[in-house]
Amino acid sequence: MDHIIEIKEVLKKYEDFTAVDHLNLNIKKGSFFGLLGPNGAGKTTLIKMLVGLLRPNSGDIFIKNQKMTRDNVFLKTKMGIVPQHINLDKELSVKENLIFSAKLYKLKRDPQEKRVEELLAFSELKPIENKLSKNLSGGMQRKLMIVKALINDPEIIFLDEPTVGIDVNTRRKIWDMLKGMKDMGKTIILTTHYIEEAEYLCDQIALMDKGKIFHLDTSKHLKSNLGTFTVEYFNDAKVTEYKYFQSIEDAKQYTHALCGNYILRDTNLEDVFYNFTNRKVR
Ligand SMILES: Nc1ncnc2c1ncn2[C@@H]1O[C@H](COP(=O)(O)OP(=O)(O)OP(=O)(O)O)[C@@H](O)[C@H]1O
Ligand SMILES: [Mg+2]
Repeated sequence: MDHIIEIKEVLKKYEDFTAVDHLNLNIKKGSFFGLLGPNGAGKTTLIKMLVGLLRPNSGDIFIKNQKMTRDNVFLKTKMGIVPQHINLDKELSVKENLIFSAKLYKLKRDPQEKRVEELLAFSELKPIENKLSKNLSGGMQRKLMIVKALINDPEIIFLDEPTVGIDVNTRRKIWDMLKGMKDMGKTIILTTHYIEEAEYLCDQIALMDKGKIFHLDTSKHLKSNLGTFTVEYFNDAKVTEYKYFQSIEDAKQYTHALCGNYILRDTNLEDVFYNFTNRKVR
């Protein structure tokens, strides 16, 4: 199996608190991998270790069969990072942000200009290339962060909540950008609190909590393991109960005994996540 990322027994502590707990995980080259988990699960901490911003207390990370360390410059040039918090230079324009980033990677002048133009076209930011990034809307800032991470044509892209607080239309445009990146053969690691985002984009989904990964599978299998059909029932105690069933016949049978309103529907990934954490994510 061609694993581009191998994580072996990785432990990260902040003083006495264990943020990532002896975690093992392999990620296939070319996959779109989703990391879901409640606030504080350890997702950002894990990503920071994968990109060499944080050092694990113990355990090893291998990327492209090389050990990842904070000074592995070769591996860092193979990665693009979209951090959880805005990382744009606010006083620079859209285009200048990209040029500045290209210079950091020491791209030569001609390839640099070509790459910046390609990315402006890809992200549809060309019409606003001269706008200062501090004057962009939140959605445009997120788009710029994503293309900025592509400046060095990385093989692996880490996106930590790239669409947080973005309207539906812009989010879907960003999804198309991300799908385009997958079609280019890139390996993508995404964290998100938008379950439908993970369901729509990711080949594999890991459910993480308290520094560990509890489930790792395709969205389809995660749902079928829980039960393909869900009955939602608002009970007499004014609480919504969720019951999961493998067959529609069993689900219908169950509803016969219910008095009051119920919904019988397909199970979705949010049910899986809700059942896993027992609390809504948004
Ligand atoms: N620098 C730090 N010092 C101490 N504790 C930290 C530090 N960074 C993170 N933590 C703690 O580690 C835990 C995991 O944090 P992390 O940011 O990795 O979670 P997350 O899954 O990314 O959460 P979110 O969904 O809110 O972004 C949290 O309890 C957090 O408070
Ligand atoms: Mg985070």
